[in-house]
Amino acid sequence: MKRIIFLFGLVILTSCTYNELAVCETDNPSFSECIMPIFSEHCIECHFHNNPYSIMPLTNFTEIQDKIINGTIIESINREIGFMPKDGKRLSVEQILIIEKWYENGTPNN
Ligand code: HEC
Repeated sequence: MKRIIFLFGLVILTSCTYNELAVCETDNPSFSECIMPIFSEHCIECHFHNNPYSIMPLTNFTEIQDKIINGTIIESINREIGFMPKDGKRLSVEQILIIEKWYENGTPNN
């Protein structure tokens, strides 16, 4: 029984420490492995379809690509005051660089 509890604990521990960007190749960030996980984790909780704030959804490639290309997302995450995620913790320097790199690389859908 102790062993089962231990194994169960281990599973919980590894799922908690799982890094959302573990498989992301930061030099050549892909949409599915780098970009989508950042938005799923930090933005979609508010930016979903028919949200109570009536703000743009950022739930898939086209929606995200559109707002990356027009500059609003990159501006919003770098802003000094009132940055996105709204009232939350700023994205890490690494996460911001990944998003900027994906933009520089031409927002590939990979
Ligand atoms: C807690 C809710 C919440 C989260 C999380 C959130 N947003 Fe927002 N976002 C808002 C609201 C509400 C607005 C509407 C404008 C305002 O109230 O500031 C908004 C507006 C925006 C805008 C357009 C207006 C502006 O301020 O530039 C962008 C771009 C944006 N969000 C990007 C993001 C990105 C990227 C993330 C994730 C890194 C994110 N948001 C996470 C709530 C949120």
